[in-house]
Amino acid sequence: MSRERDTLISAAENRAMFDRIARNYDAANRAISLGLDRGWRRRTVELLKPFRGGRYLDIGTGTGDLVFEILAQSANVLVDGIDPAEKMLAIARAKASGKGIGDAVNFFAADALDLPMEHDTYDGIVTGFCFRNIERRQRALEEMLRVLKPGGMLAILEAAYPSKPLVRLGYRLYAPLVPLIGRLLGGGSAYRYLMDSIEDFPRPENVTDMMVATGFSHVACRPLTLGAVCIFTGKKQSR
Ligand SMILES: C[S@@+](CC[C@H](N)C(=O)[O-])C[C@H]1O[C@@H](n2cnc3c(N)ncnc32)[C@H](O)[C@@H]1O
Repeated sequence: MSRERDTLISAAENRAMFDRIARNYDAANRAISLGLDRGWRRRTVELLKPFRGGRYLDIGTGTGDLVFEILAQSANVLVDGIDPAEKMLAIARAKASGKGIGDAVNFFAADALDLPMEHDTYDGIVTGFCFRNIERRQRALEEMLRVLKPGGMLAILEAAYPSKPLVRLGYRLYAPLVPLIGRLLGGGSAYRYLMDSIEDFPRPENVTDMMVATGFSHVACRPLTLGAVCIFTGKKQSR
């Protein structure tokens, strides 16, 4: 069955939802992931291997935690964080100025489907829990490949629907708690959507196929925490 878009909700609904939950997003993230989200972001950036003097992009940066992780893992890097949701960006900027790292980061509104950058700009791109929300995922991968420098690395961190029966059972038992936690933290229906969108997201092998079809090389998928999340990596071919 072909759908008009890859996602359950439109880009406009998505932006409004993230603006609505921005204030409590970090707290909800910690609670729902049982504090594991920090380690997942750390591992994602380790796979990116940021180096001194490099230039990096975080797509769907939200409140900026992957940007801060890149800066924690490498000195003298320049990092752009983009997101269409202005209220998420406002929190990212406030966190950056609180950390005194405003010079190394640039948070601005932009869409993964139409990146306002030149070809071959970045040494690496990360995107965390965002790819699932993009209306045209193949088009987003094409944009990522375009703005990566030859030899540059992409790392996509995404929630996954567990494939192993026992893990799936645990997931099914935990899933109803997520909207409750979200509601307690003022997230309303956003956390019901979170669970629905995870179930709707393509299986890991379909994501890696899509990356290969886009032209990425060295494509791999690393499951973490019994497959609750996956990190997909791929490289732009060197010339
Ligand atoms: C679940 S949040 C993840 C935020 C952050 N990356 C993290 O690790 O916590 C998803 C973010 O992706 C953003 N997003 C959704 N669609 C997007 C698109 N087409 N282009 C760029 N960002 C998008 C949302 O606005 C939201 O801030």
